[in-house]
Amino acid sequence: MTIHIGAEPGQIAETVLMPGDPLRAEWAAQTFLDNPVCVNRVRGMLGFTGTWQGHRVTIHGSGMGMPSLSIYANELIRDYGAKTLIRIGSCGAMQETVGLRDVILAMTASSLSTPSSGIFRELNFAPCADYGLLNAAANAAKAIGATYHVGGIYSADVFYDERPDLNEIMSRHGVLGVEMEAAELYNLAARHSVRALAVLTVSDHLLTHEALPSEDRQSSFEDMVQIALEAAFAS
Ligand code: HPA
Repeated sequence: MTIHIGAEPGQIAETVLMPGDPLRAEWAAQTFLDNPVCVNRVRGMLGFTGTWQGHRVTIHGSGMGMPSLSIYANELIRDYGAKTLIRIGSCGAMQETVGLRDVILAMTASSLSTPSSGIFRELNFAPCADYGLLNAAANAAKAIGATYHVGGIYSADVFYDERPDLNEIMSRHGVLGVEMEAAELYNLAARHSVRALAVLTVSDHLLTHEALPSEDRQSSFEDMVQIALEAAFAS
């Protein structure tokens, strides 16, 4: 047990999928895993371990925002030995060429700040995905016929943004979408020599202001989970 995770030693798999929402962790575990067992419910943050095609997998919520993700990812890596961490979550599209329900594979994650900014100080570290996972995810996305994009995303600190110019600058620099967790996951993966990737589904569009109706969200998220699982165990 750690401060925020109630699992016993050995109850967390080396491969961890991390949605922001604990109830989405429950849905993904029940939908994709064989024999899912709930291994954490501290503070209502749910984690489940089961198997997918014979491979052990944990699906554990990260909460919203990088400070929350940092708590869970640190404990999963440092205390439970997680080696592959894949964020599965939603994002807002920032390009005309990206549509609702499309999948974005985040090659890099720009940010204004992250919980690691204090460590890097004057350095602008470039958080990036594990190339093997990214390549495998692109192959998996192609194989299932998903509409997907590979490129940079923006990990924002706030959802209710009082600085719309930041989104505009990111859009102008080709950034595909905005979410709130991936940059710190990539920072932590680099620091601890583990693999990380963010596989995202577009739930809303910053340019067209379209949004997925809530009843559509679940089915649109299935491709993303499938891609994450295939990527984790490719080769
Ligand atoms: N902004 C930040 N995070 C998000 C968004 C957004 O528009 N959509 C989904 N996650």
